[in-house]
Amino acid sequence: MGLSSFNTPITGWQDQRIWVIGASSGIGAALARQLLANGARVILSARRTDLLEHVAGAHPRALVATLDVQNTADWLGAYRQIQQRFNGVDLVIFCAAAYRPERSWEVVPEAALQMLAINVGSVYTGLATVLPDMMQRRTGGVALVASVAGYMGLPTASVYGPSKAALINLAEVLYGDLHSLGMNVYLINPGFVETELTQKNDYAMPALQTPDQAALAILHGMKRGQFEIHFPKRFTRVLKLVQCLPYRLRFFLFKRFLA
Ligand SMILES: NC(=O)c1ccc[n+]([C@@H]2O[C@H](COP(=O)([O-])OP(=O)(O)OC[C@H]3O[C@@H](n4cnc5c(N)ncnc54)[C@H](OP(=O)(O)O)[C@@H]3O)[C@@H](O)[C@H]2O)c1
Repeated sequence: MGLSSFNTPITGWQDQRIWVIGASSGIGAALARQLLANGARVILSARRTDLLEHVAGAHPRALVATLDVQNTADWLGAYRQIQQRFNGVDLVIFCAAAYRPERSWEVVPEAALQMLAINVGSVYTGLATVLPDMMQRRTGGVALVASVAGYMGLPTASVYGPSKAALINLAEVLYGDLHSLGMNVYLINPGFVETELTQKNDYAMPALQTPDQAALAILHGMKRGQFEIHFPKRFTRVLKLVQCLPYRLRFFLFKRFLA
């Protein structure tokens, strides 16, 4: 690999077939809109068909494929639709997630398992759906939208945080496995973005961005062939620094500023 880009830089989105999972709102919807505006063919998936259709806006290069990521049959049905319409997919962006701020003592095990199934388990189903064809073609890409909440254990991210830490780890595994086979793998770690998801937070969110800013940063990072795309840098760099601190110091800071 040398010191060149981690992934093949994307020179243009024209006619690229991009499957956005979680395209009905927030970052996924903004990504879908920007990709369509940039000439890509976009498959929009999530559960709320009405919102997906609204984002797609009867665009001739858009395909709405409703799916619940927890349902394997939905994945297969959506992929069949994609094959019929576009004869395959070049990049899958795993952007769907559930979030609930909760202290560790508030966690209900069944609800925790469901969040893990949506945020992590479903990615395995999606990978099993698309990877065989990509591996045969020796081309394609996958992008996992994790979070800076996966960098370290933060208060109230009792289930969400571990789910995002798992995705960060999985993206590293995927890069090791797939890059040498000609595929691109992206790990996306946003800071705070103003969406339905963060409406659940009752604290001030530093360096809050709009979904459009987030989508722009993601597409920019992909164009440059980055592996980890994290933003906004003024926030994520501080967190990366804290992540390097010894636990004694890190826990002291958390107690002082976050408890
Ligand atoms: N907002 C932030 O500050 C922030 C920060 C770091 C990381 N992220 C990550 O960014 C991604 C997008 O989040 P967002 O902030 O844009 O939140 P959002 O607006 O709530 O979007 C979440 C998306 O996931 C979809 N989804 C949820 N459960 C699903 C299911 N069972 N099946 C199919 N789709 C499902 C939702 O669609 P339906 O409800 O229509 O199914 C929606 O399109 C997530 O992975 C999130 O963890 C967000």
